[in-house]
Order: sequence, then structure tokens, then C-alpha cells
Amino acid sequence: MANQGARRANVDSDRLWRRHMEMAELGATAKGGVNRAALTPTDIEVHVRLAEWARERDFTVDIDAYGNQFMRRAGTIETAAAVASGSHSDTQPTGGRFDGISGVLSAVEALEIIDDAGIATCHPLEAVIWNNEEGTRFSPTNLGSAVYVGSAPIDAMLAATDGNGVTMKAAVRALRKAIPWAGTRDLKAPMAAFVESHIEQGPELESEGLNIGVVTAIQGTRKLEIEVIGDEAHAGTTPERLRRDAFVDGVQIVSALRDLFHDPDDIMRFTIGRFEVSPGALAVVPGRVFFTIDIRHPDNATLARLGDQVESTCQAAASRCDVHVIETRRAESTPFSGAVPEAIETAAKERGFSYKHMPSGAGHDARYVSNICPSGMVFIPCEHGLSHNERENTTPDDLARGAQVIADTLLILDERLQ
Ligand code: GLV
Ligand code: MN
Ligand code: MN
Repeated sequence: MANQGARRANVDSDRLWRRHMEMAELGATAKGGVNRAALTPTDIEVHVRLAEWARERDFTVDIDAYGNQFMRRAGTIETAAAVASGSHSDTQPTGGRFDGISGVLSAVEALEIIDDAGIATCHPLEAVIWNNEEGTRFSPTNLGSAVYVGSAPIDAMLAATDGNGVTMKAAVRALRKAIPWAGTRDLKAPMAAFVESHIEQGPELESEGLNIGVVTAIQGTRKLEIEVIGDEAHAGTTPERLRRDAFVDGVQIVSALRDLFHDPDDIMRFTIGRFEVSPGALAVVPGRVFFTIDIRHPDNATLARLGDQVESTCQAAASRCDVHVIETRRAESTPFSGAVPEAIETAAKERGFSYKHMPSGAGHDARYVSNICPSGMVFIPCEHGLSHNERENTTPDDLARGAQVIADTLLILDERLQ
């Protein structure tokens, strides 16, 4: 890639691709994807390798109370807050090789090439691994960037447990033990700016033949958990009239919720991603159903109005069982404007990359980080728009362009934020 000016450094595209393939081996699935839940041994191994690369360069490595990891190249002004980039290293159970880790590896690549070019920055530059973005291992689901900025309470989030009863607190302890030399980072320590690179997870850039998306906003979301409690009973002896079948009520509730969220314009996103029937035995009338709801919409008023009707809709649709509804996460639509998207656009223009402004349907760490500093996101094309899928794919060139924009954006922000 052509070097456009004095304070710019060029991405090593082969190294970047090689590192993606190396990370994809940690938690690799038989179908070519990745299953790497937060702070499992494979995820900790990712943290360790990145920490070692940082240490080889005399970058400092700090970990906060929730297990977010910060790799920092010092700036010339000691008191300046960091200009940071990063994303997450955990995946969905049937995740791909790029969702999350590409944003982390792009940030690491950016710091390394700036270091190799001997460019002094006023602000420290940081590559961040936000812990537990996908939120699949721990219940209630939680998210490192939200905890960092104070949008989620640290004590409750550390008490969250996985399916084996392991707490997040114990998982963070295991991370610390694996990198005993890492320093400690305070939650909410200020950042000067944050930019996150991510595969688009949708089809638009690919279908329009564009290199880069400059993200304008992330749509709002609400996540809820529904528990339907009936009575376990013998499948052969219990007459219909005496049953409190949690599955039967659960199905009625799901049907009512689908009606509530049906949107003729197809903008509302409504997903039941987990549905559990207990005890899950052939000859037992189910005594408990548990399911999750993920709803998303760009308009906060619509999300508020419909989300607020979930509880009453569930209660009205249940005939014989008790229903409990809890909301585990709520985030408003988040706009990105100002310094960070402007710097991304400058970087894309300088390099001659084609780009467009676009909103994000998926949630990302940058949403939460924007609570404490100017933030923004770079999207790169994603093959056939497939993500949260083991076949998720992108190209070495697209990854390199994304990392290049990240490196240039960090330098532009370093100049503009002085
Ligand atoms: C992030 O993975 C999301 O669910 O939007
Ligand atoms: Mn994801
Ligand atoms: Mn992601």
C-alpha cells in the first residue's frame, strides 16, 4: 500500500492474515469456524499471545477488574489519555474467524507498524481486547466495554456464572494468572478516543463493491429472559385438564410475542435464540421453559413502546403457568459523529479506498465506549454478508485495508485531538 505522507505507516498484509489464521486455530470447529467463549482456556491463550507480542516491543499490558486487556505504546505527553482501538476475542458457539478478533488484530497491527516506523505520538496508543462481548458463556449476559464505562455494575457482573458454576470473577483470576506480569487498569480510566474495526456482518459493502464502511450509528437493543413455570407430571397418567405444561404456555407466549413484534416494514429485529424445555425427558410434562429475546430497532421510541409490552403480552398469553420476565440489557440507538468518523473518512480518502457511511445492525463495544470518549467504527466487507456463522469469511486485502484505516485514523486523531 502506498505511503501517503509523513506520519503514516503501512500495514503488513501477510502478517495480518497469518495472525488471523493463527488465532482461528484457538477454538477451531470442524466446520471451519471458531468456538471461543470468553475467558475459556483458548480465549485466555489469545490474550497471552497478544500480551507476549506487546511485551516484545516494550508496550505495557494492563488488565482491569473485569478482564479487559489494554496493550499500550507510550506517547510523548505523559498525562495524555490514550487514543485506542480494539474489539473482542470471544465468539459465538458457532462463530466465524473474524467477528471480533479482526478488530483486535487490526489494532495490534496498527501499533506495531507505527512503532516500526518510529513515529512518536503525543497520546499513548492502545490496542484493547474487550472481554465477553458475545455474552454467551455467563448469565446474566454481560459485556466488558459496558462494565468498563460504568453502564453495567461490576460486582453483579463478576458474580455471573457459566453453565458449570464458574464465576466471571474466577475467570478473570485465571486470565491474571496466565499473564502474571500484567499491570492493573482502573475501570473508567479516561480515553481520548476509540475506533473499532469489524467485519460488516451484512452484505452491503460486498454487493456495492466498496472497501470501507464509515459507521454512523448502532441500532438500539433490548435483551430479555422469560421463564415459564408449570408443574412436572407423568406423561401417561396426567389428564390434560390437570396439567400445568410449561411448554404449552411457552408456545402460546412465543406466538403472542411474534404478533407483537411483527413489522410489515421489516425493520424490527426479533429473535428467540435460546429455548430450553426442562426437564427435557420424553415421559415428563415440562415443568419449566426458559427462553431469551433479542429485539433491535433504530428508533428508540419504537423499541421503548414495544419492549415495554413484553411482560404484559407474556402474562396475557399464559393460561396456567407462572411467567417471570427480566430485562438483562438495554441500549439506546447510538450515533457516531464528529472527530472519529471524520478521521476515518480522511484516512479512507487519503488511501484512495472506496467507502460509504452506513449504520450498524449488530451491536459492538464502540457503543458503550462512546459514553466516555469520541468513538466510531470502520466496517470491512464480509463474504455474502454471513456472520455468526462458521462460514464467515473476508479477504486478506479487505482485512489489510481495514487495519490501514485504523492505523491512519489513530495518527490523524493523535494530531487533531491535541
Ligand atoms: C453482537 O455480536 C451482536 O449480537 O450484535
Ligand atoms: Mn458477534
Ligand atoms: Mn463482534
